[in-house]
Amino acid sequence: MIEYRRPRLDEAEAFAALHVQCWREAYVGFVPPELMSTFSTERRLPMWRAVTTHPERFVLAAYDEGKPVGFVISGSTDEKHIENQDGHLWAIYIASKYHRIGIGRELIAAAAADWFAKGGKSITLGVLAKNASARLFYEKLGARFVKTSTYDWDGYKLDDAIYVFEDLAFLTP
Ligand SMILES: CC(C)(COP(=O)(O)OP(=O)(O)OC[C@H]1O[C@@H](n2cnc3c(N)ncnc32)[C@H](O)[C@@H]1OP(=O)(O)O)[C@@H](O)C(=O)NCCC(=O)NCCS
Repeated sequence: MIEYRRPRLDEAEAFAALHVQCWREAYVGFVPPELMSTFSTERRLPMWRAVTTHPERFVLAAYDEGKPVGFVISGSTDEKHIENQDGHLWAIYIASKYHRIGIGRELIAAAAADWFAKGGKSITLGVLAKNASARLFYEKLGARFVKTSTYDWDGYKLDDAIYVFEDLAFLTP
């Protein structure tokens, strides 16, 4: 059975490893191999230490019998993706073995509920333009495509599709 809770600081390393695993599974074919070869748990660890202790970030993870299998990170942003920027989905990743069983929908609904409860009205997100399956997922959940942008990932310039969820109440279970 899949269970959901906020990850703890002492799990930061496990989530850094899961994050890298998900990148490797999801991005073969459209992230340059030279960039992929730089992915490492060690490099992701500071981010996970920071996010698990961040007072304002919404972080929720899915566990299968105690093992982390997915996560979402959301909240405010200083970046301006759209005119009336509000909330932002920072990341959602699920191990490939656990795709298409509703975990993504559950995590997005929880992030939307959290932002809505804080008075938020919308949530933007960026997804690599070539990540067709994730785009179909966001579109299925009601996200509206806004524009194509450029994402600078460690100096590699990648096409990024910007979407916005405008009806958070609709997403909330
Ligand atoms: C994208 C992702 C988060 C979706 O999570 P998920 O748990 O697999 O999705 P769900 O099971 O909740 O799917 C909800 C609906 O979205 C749609 N959907 C999900 N994945 C899809 C796919 N690969 N192709 C088409 N539609 C898809 C379906 O309509 C699905 O409902 P259904 O299964 O009843 O038909 C997950 O596949 C993932 O982690 N991918 C790799 C990492 C990634 O690309 N993250 C996004 C970075 S921006």
